[in-house]
Amino acid sequence: MSKNIAIFASGSGSNAERIVEYFSDSTEINVKLFLCNNPQAGVIQRAERLNIPLVMFNRQQFKSGKVVDILKENEIDWVILAGFLWLVPQNVVEAFPNKIINIHPALLPKFGGKGMYGHFVHEAVVENKETESGITIHLVNEHYDEGAIIFQASYPVLPTDLPEDVAKKGQVLEHKHFPEVIEKAILG
Ligand code: GRF
Repeated sequence: MSKNIAIFASGSGSNAERIVEYFSDSTEINVKLFLCNNPQAGVIQRAERLNIPLVMFNRQQFKSGKVVDILKENEIDWVILAGFLWLVPQNVVEAFPNKIINIHPALLPKFGGKGMYGHFVHEAVVENKETESGITIHLVNEHYDEGAIIFQASYPVLPTDLPEDVAKKGQVLEHKHFPEVIEKAILG
């Protein structure tokens, strides 16, 4: 029986697309659904182009358990957060214990927590004159960026790097490793 995954995204969705491509020939893992909380998100167009069903939802539906109902109706086994910006409520964490995986564009525990996402992270890395940064893939609990880390990879940050340079280096690692780490987490 193949495992169904749902991908939550609030932004462009480049990781979501990369994950769909990676599992497109898989008989063990099936990307069944995209879920989005931002009507302006680029992932909406990607879902259409990739022919992946997409569900838009709001905070009330997230908190009330409606989203869990949708995931259960679609027989979702694992939840992937790929550029998803809201804190995951307890009802979702309890419905998918140790089966929710997030990617964060920094070497947690550094540059994590509420408000630390996307360009805010990369600006902080440059402002802090860090000599390296990286990506962290972790299990999700009800606290921002605090779940068990399952993978990290790093890259050098040069004194001349701008936040957008740092972001680009991170994206290369994300697209390379995120699908493989998901596969290993699910299939062991
Ligand atoms: C990624 O950098 C990810 O680490 C972070 O949000 C960004 C999403 O990028 N959590 P995309 O929407 O997948 O292009």
